Amino acid sequence: MDTQTKLDKIETYVKQKFYNDPTGHDYNHMKRVAKMAKKIALKEQANPFVAEVSGWLHDIGDKKLFSNPAIAIEEMNEFLSCIDLSPKQVTIINEIISNVSFRKGKTPHSIEGKIVQDSDRLDAMGAIGIARAFAFGGAHDRLIHAEDKEFKDTATIQHFYDKLLQLKDLMNTKTAQEIANDRHEMMVVFLKQFYYEWNINEKKSD
Ligand code: ADP
Ligand code: NI
Repeated sequence: MDTQTKLDKIETYVKQKFYNDPTGHDYNHMKRVAKMAKKIALKEQANPFVAEVSGWLHDIGDKKLFSNPAIAIEEMNEFLSCIDLSPKQVTIINEIISNVSFRKGKTPHSIEGKIVQDSDRLDAMGAIGIARAFAFGGAHDRLIHAEDKEFKDTATIQHFYDKLLQLKDLMNTKTAQEIANDRHEMMVVFLKQFYYEWNINEKKSD
């Protein structure tokens, strides 16, 4: 099986698993992470195939998305050997997937894993990152923003301070760092405008 056919089959597999996710973890998130991982891998002289495949599959077995993560991983590994990925490639991909998540606080060992982690974090930043945060908040019945203590900590604006504004300092690769700086700036501009519109009577500050 040639490389492009393998990638097409992986795309179809992911599409069928994630098409309807309303929390910002849909098929198009996987597609952006896969394409970004390939782009960074080519710049960083890493293996673009391993980076792209792991980008497509990075959220398989995530416990907030799968009721039985172990079975999801087992099924994915069977699928990967059916499309002729070598046992060595499957092992590398598994190591990457088990270490990319922000919540777990780990860094994958391989350069391709570091690239996939960067790509996943980049997708939580910038204009798309803002859209995903509010999609996640809405799907979890959270407020956009609140001033009273009772709701403030769980409102989506708080998530920018808890996580999104820290992401630019967590990039593993130089290529991702450059993209992250741009996306970070976009979120800073967004927040400034947000508060300006929220506080109707205040003057716009620099
Ligand atoms: P990971 O899958 O790396 O552990 P998460 O699932 O925590 O990361 O985050 C993935 C996406 O969901 C990001 O776009 C992130 O902003 C969004 N998200 C996660 N938690 C929240 C939250 N409390 N409020 C708003 N968005 C969130
Ligand atoms: Ni992800």
